[in-house]
Order: sequence, then structure tokens, then C-alpha cells
Amino acid sequence: QAAQALKSIARSEHIKSYLQQSEELYPLVLQAAKRFITGESRQDGITVAKEMIRKGYAVSLEYIGENIKGAGECHEAKEEFLQLIEEMGAASINQTVSLDLSHIGLLVDTEITYTHLVELAEKAKSYNITVMVSMEESSKTDDILDIYKRAVRHYSNVGISIQAHLYRSVQDLHELMNYPGKIRIVKGAYQEPCNVAIPRSKELNDRYLQLVEQVMEANHPLSIATHDESLIQQIEQRHCLARSHVEVEMLYGIRPDLLKNAKDNGYTARMYLTYGQEWYLYLCHRLAEYPENLYLALTDMIGP
Ligand code: FDA
Repeated sequence: QAAQALKSIARSEHIKSYLQQSEELYPLVLQAAKRFITGESRQDGITVAKEMIRKGYAVSLEYIGENIKGAGECHEAKEEFLQLIEEMGAASINQTVSLDLSHIGLLVDTEITYTHLVELAEKAKSYNITVMVSMEESSKTDDILDIYKRAVRHYSNVGISIQAHLYRSVQDLHELMNYPGKIRIVKGAYQEPCNVAIPRSKELNDRYLQLVEQVMEANHPLSIATHDESLIQQIEQRHCLARSHVEVEMLYGIRPDLLKNAKDNGYTARMYLTYGQEWYLYLCHRLAEYPENLYLALTDMIGP
């Protein structure tokens, strides 16, 4: 319930515009958000990316945004991603860009989305950069998979995220392994009906392991994207993770100790970095999935 409330708050335009207009509150909440985001500008993202690479991490960079309904805004978002790829290339950050298709057109038109994705993949390819497509609510899964499959046929530098909590993911994954793109396995961040998805449970963890196993056995490029320590330990017990096609990936600011361990053990440890003006939504997602973070956020805002 707390999670649902926080997600509703995140989507409330009223609260968002109040926050943006409040000269006192805005910097305080931004301060709290900086535990999870690099900052508001592309430069913030690039600066932290360079620092993390210097420390031995791989990185993914996302310009935050989702569910954009205007064609003009989707075009602008695509342009921002192009610029990001350009600047990453110029700085020799030949790593990963991550995005939600609903940020670049999915709610407007699937053809526009496909064209935008291909444009990004083309630019990224010239810098040896991977474009990872995120997975969104189950109502969008078919469209996201269709667009991904069309794009990856031409651009093997495009990858896809799969949510272990969706029942359909077993079948989807089976099919996705026929394509060359990297597969990122996540538990799933969205509230879904119980006939569609498995809630957080041992059953979900077993499903996560099963999917990882499937990809590992096929030697397919894989990102194990979780902060679940016991899951990572179980995967480590069964498989050697120090392989070039396998990586452990975590969100910036969440369990940095665990990601450092992965790095120190010789695994590819990828840190998922975000930037952008829409950090408020991203912050609410991180609070919603782990309400204990509310305490941290308040401490960041008002001091211990
Ligand atoms: P789980 O939620 O069970 O948490 C396990 C443990 O991790 C917790 O006990 C806690 O210790 C720690 N933890 C988890 N979340 C935390 C938080 N916010 N703050 C502090 N500690 C926390 N989802 C999606 O639906 N589509 C997508 O495309 C992506 N993409 C994506 C990329 C990457 C790189 C990551 C790491 C995650 C995603 N996600 C995602 C989010 C994912 O689905 C999931 O919601 C979060 O990773 C949290 O789930 P865990 O696997 O960490 O397990």
C-alpha cells in the first residue's frame, strides 16, 4: 500500500508542479534524490560515469523519463539520447545507454518509436555503445518486444530487459535467445495483477534463478540486474561469473557495497546511472520499492 501511495504521488502533476515552484522544498528534495541520481544535467551523468569507470566499474546511463504523450517531447528525448551517445563516444565511454521506449514514442506511435530506436542504435554502433531497452508495465510488453525484435535484427548492439515476475517471461526469454542482443534480467518494478505476475517471494527468486540459468547455459550476453544478495550468492555457487558475456548490474546508490564486492571478485560490475529533470519520478520509484529509503530521504533533507 505504501508503495502504491508513493507511485501515485510520483505521477501527481499537482504535487510535481508544487515542488517545482517551491524555492525551499525543491533543493531539499533534489538533495535527497542525489542518493540515487547523478544530477539534473547530461554533464552530471557523464562526470559520474567517468569517476565510476576510473574506479573499475562498467556503467549504464539513462536520461530519466517515461510515458511521454507528446510527439514533440518524444523527439526532444530522442535528441537528448543522441547527444548523450555523442558525448559518451567523444569521452571514450564505450558503454551502455538505457531507455524506456515510452520516453521516445511508445504512447504516441509504434513506428515513430521504432525509427527513434534505430536512429539511436545506429549512432551508438559507431561508438561501440549498447542501447538497452527497459521493460515497462505488462500492458506494453508486446509492443516493446515487437519493436526490440525488429531493431535487433539489424543492430546487435540493442539489448532488452526481461522481468522475472511476469509469468510470460519464461516463453519470451526462450524466444529472445534467438536474437543476438544482451538480455538483462530484473525482478520487475511494476505492480501487476496476480494472474500476470509473481509477487516478491521465494517463488519469484526461483523463477529469477531459472531465467538466469537459461541464459547462462546458452552463453548468451547477460546482465544479472538485482540487489538481492542471496540471489547473487546462489548464482555464484552455480556459475563462474567472471566471464566476458556476464555482468552484475545495480542501480546507483543501492547496495554499492554489493556491487563493489562483485567488482573485487573480478566480475563485470555495471553501475546504472541516471540524470535528468524528471528525477522526482525516479526518486519515488526507489522509495516505493524499498520504503525504508523514506527515512534516508528525510535524513538527507533535514540532517540526522
Ligand atoms: P528486491 O526488491 O527483492 O530487493 C532485494 C534487496 O535489495 C532488498 O532486500 C534490499 O536490500 C535491496 N534493495 C532493493 N531495492 C532497494 C532500494 N530501492 N533501496 C535500497 N535497497 C534496495 N524494473 C523493471 O520493471 N523494468 C526494467 O527495465 C528495470 N531495469 C532495471 C535495471 C537495473 C540495472 C536494475 C538493477 C533494476 C531494474 N529494474 C527494472 C528494477 C527491478 O525490477 C527491481 O524493481 C529492483 O531491482 C529491486 O529488485 P531487486 O532485484 O533488487 O530485489
